[in-house]
Amino acid sequence: MSTNTNANVNTNISNIAKHPEQAPMFDLLFFGGTGDLAMRKLLPSLFMAHSAGTLHPKGRIWGLSRQQLTTEQYLDILEKEVRTHAKVADASQEVWQSFCQRIHYQKVDVTELNDFNALKTTLDSFDNKQDVIAYLAITPKLFEVTCKNLVDAKLDDGNMRVVLEKPMGTDLASSNAINDAVAQYFHEQQLYRIDHYLGKESVQNLLMLRFSNILFEPLWKNEWIDNVQITIAEDLGVEGRGGFYDGIGALRDMMQNHLLQLVCMVAMEPPASMDADSIRSEKLKVLKSLRPMTAIEDINQNSVRGQYTKGIISRVDENNVVNDSVVPAYRDEPNVNPNSQTETFVAIKAHIDNWRWAGVPFYLRTGKRMQEKFAEIVITFKDVPHKLFSGTPQNMQPNRMVIRLQPDESIRLYVKSKKLGNSMEVQRTFLNLNFHEILQGRRTSAYERLLQDVIESRLPLFVHRDEQAAAWQWVEPIMEAWAKDEVPLYKYSAGSYGPVQSYELIAKDGRTWKEDVLM
Ligand code: BG6
Repeated sequence: MSTNTNANVNTNISNIAKHPEQAPMFDLLFFGGTGDLAMRKLLPSLFMAHSAGTLHPKGRIWGLSRQQLTTEQYLDILEKEVRTHAKVADASQEVWQSFCQRIHYQKVDVTELNDFNALKTTLDSFDNKQDVIAYLAITPKLFEVTCKNLVDAKLDDGNMRVVLEKPMGTDLASSNAINDAVAQYFHEQQLYRIDHYLGKESVQNLLMLRFSNILFEPLWKNEWIDNVQITIAEDLGVEGRGGFYDGIGALRDMMQNHLLQLVCMVAMEPPASMDADSIRSEKLKVLKSLRPMTAIEDINQNSVRGQYTKGIISRVDENNVVNDSVVPAYRDEPNVNPNSQTETFVAIKAHIDNWRWAGVPFYLRTGKRMQEKFAEIVITFKDVPHKLFSGTPQNMQPNRMVIRLQPDESIRLYVKSKKLGNSMEVQRTFLNLNFHEILQGRRTSAYERLLQDVIESRLPLFVHRDEQAAAWQWVEPIMEAWAKDEVPLYKYSAGSYGPVQSYELIAKDGRTWKEDVLM
């Protein structure tokens, strides 16, 4: 894996500044500073960090966009968004006012070098020299010119960090083109490719669980594991992003990045240390071991794509009342082609061809407008070799470990125990580790954690370009077959768990998705 050590990088995942004053001072430049991501996620996350006192007091935050705004006007727009999207215990006017001291706005058209020169002059007018971080929350088409202008305006002193937001291309070639363009100006060590799933508390907890407990690792292999299921289900639809989503679809939007990163977390070998190179090269090995699916028969056998039709989504409100709402079909969403062939659901049976995982299928699925929002990893263990006891089929299910990533974080280990009474009948039960109940304290959002990591130059939770390329390489043949309509696009009702064919995908192996056995 290629790395260049010019930049001053703190490569260790756990090497966190204990006190904000020890963390670097920073000028955080948000290109796309008036955009959706900045308003809904990035600035609210920084407000949460500010309220918790984890940012260096001298850190400055810059909203940059083509709009001609004063800082006061920018703050007016920002306040409403931050108050809507930030989860903080103390959102008093005093805390907000102190946050405002960090915020500056400057008009920057990323195609205009003069605007970058003006920005440099503004930054230089402050007494203290701070690390400059550029967050590119803009279309990747503008990454190259932005990087060029950052360098030409001498904003990079060799230690600048550049954060790259998705979508990083729509296939291997376009992703390589973006990475090559950016690499003309910045070393790999300066580039922070975001996959916000890696910033989730529960995903990091998975690393902790696997590599700091002796219990799991000996069982974590094909000898003892029958199959692994990973699901990221969303109850939301495309939420006004139809124009972006149509033609992209679930395979590119969720599978190529978030799902495959979770596969890496489950399947990687223990890294030699928690530094960026060790972690990222172990993940890369997993991605490279994914069995390629290239023949159309293979793709047809092992993948299912779906699109939601009109249906009913049920949500439980804070008073425990169930509210049903009828939601439109994907094709009736705004800015979606009424004949769209874009998938909003994907299920894939994958194999990792290495010693640890040979023969263990990984069933992966994700979809929009599913029955509920949740993300889970389900490890199903093999059954005992000789059964001494009996019970109902439901109770006789083999051991399962269900790692719930969201919305609530927990680990449930399903075990067989004895039913009360005189008989020796098996009763399935579970050991429940509910992190929300056990671990009290402030929870950081994924973006807050990742922004803090960029500020403190921590690379391990960011994606190396080689990982990105390997992931595209694996999904690309599937994408191509789907684009040629060589695999049918199945319909599923909004509010369900996806098309029936996704049940058949797993049923033909004599297995079931978790919700069918553990409800
Ligand atoms: C984004 C996708 O990367 O992840 C969205 O573009 C999706 O389509 C989102 O809704 C899901 O993230 P989370 O954190 O809500 O599970």
